[in-house]
Amino acid sequence: MYLSNEDERVLKGEYGHAAQKSMQILVALGDLFGADKLIPIKSVQVAGVSYHNLGDAGLEFLADLAKDGRVIVPTFLNPAGMDMVDWKKLKIPEDFAKKQQLVIDAFAKMGINTTCTCTPYLIGIEPKFGEHVAWAESSAVTYCNSVIGARSNREGGPSALAAAFVGKTPNYGLHLDEERVPDLQVKVNVDLESLSDWGALGCAIGRNAANKIPMLVGIDSRPSIDCLKTFSASIVTYGTKPLYHIRGITPEAGKFDEPAETLTIGVRELQEAYEFLNDKDDIVDFVSLGCPHASIDEIKEVAKLLKGKKLAPGVEMWISCARPIKERAENLGLVKIIEDSGALVAADTCMAVAPLKGRFKSVATTSAKGCFYCSGHNGMKTHIGSIEKCVKAALNGKWS
Ligand code: F3S
Repeated sequence: MYLSNEDERVLKGEYGHAAQKSMQILVALGDLFGADKLIPIKSVQVAGVSYHNLGDAGLEFLADLAKDGRVIVPTFLNPAGMDMVDWKKLKIPEDFAKKQQLVIDAFAKMGINTTCTCTPYLIGIEPKFGEHVAWAESSAVTYCNSVIGARSNREGGPSALAAAFVGKTPNYGLHLDEERVPDLQVKVNVDLESLSDWGALGCAIGRNAANKIPMLVGIDSRPSIDCLKTFSASIVTYGTKPLYHIRGITPEAGKFDEPAETLTIGVRELQEAYEFLNDKDDIVDFVSLGCPHASIDEIKEVAKLLKGKKLAPGVEMWISCARPIKERAENLGLVKIIEDSGALVAADTCMAVAPLKGRFKSVATTSAKGCFYCSGHNGMKTHIGSIEKCVKAALNGKWS
């Protein structure tokens, strides 16, 4: 891979230890994937923020990097293992909270914006069409590539941090025009009426389209941002590359012809995805909304459905979101309505990265990605449905 004089100086250590280590990582990555050069990036999203995933070894690694590592492009974080303010309400153990705070302190010392979210585009962190970025969380990367038309590979924790210290990323994969061409046409022959329908659609496509870039046809009206973020999370979780196109909707779709290979998703295929995602038991002891992190519209809908009601005994309910969205919800009186019912608005975190193992038996959610993590990481039974159905489950303690 070609390195400029400036890149060479970073590699020799003239800009400090963290920048040198970072350049070594980027050069190794670039060589591995056949990149021709490093390209400048506009922003970075760092994943691997939860102490639950990092452990003490990860915390030590970050503390060491923070000695002289300073980011040189705007950088923010993926969700952490707890609400950084209201962690006690989420029943997070105190020793975990202390370690999680040390993780965030190390990131802050590096100059990183410590807003922890997977929906940065809902709080004003939105790249422009065609811009190169280095983001890490899979739903955010997929939304960024597909809906915004900016360009990012799905970075790992170390490669994202390295990009933040150097301000560049290797030019390969989804940064290149030729790697963004769809290779599977998906005919959507079913009405999509709820967030969970979009999640199930992503699951149905992802399971049949391993490592492909789908081009969806047959979607006539523009889906809401909430539907697109849910779909972005689901389709990549279940198998595609972090990029899709929707004919007439997403910004690059018009550049391409329909691929020859086709997949049709109709009522039967959507129903099969629901059956795959839904366990048969009826008990619900956890309801998790806001995967990806909730918008203010989703929180308004939840507050309307919960107003004046109480969760069933033994049920916990979290609505996960970015802190600025929680602050807006607080100002609108929505957090109080939700908390009066016994549910919680959990900023900074989500059910996939909080230390929940063994705490709940069975989750209800709008998110197909949420099902994947609650089941795979935390051993919960899973139920997926609309916001209304999930709230009903929280009030009744059962799915049916
Ligand atoms: Fe975001 Fe967590 Fe879902 S990172 S996409 S809320 S699993």
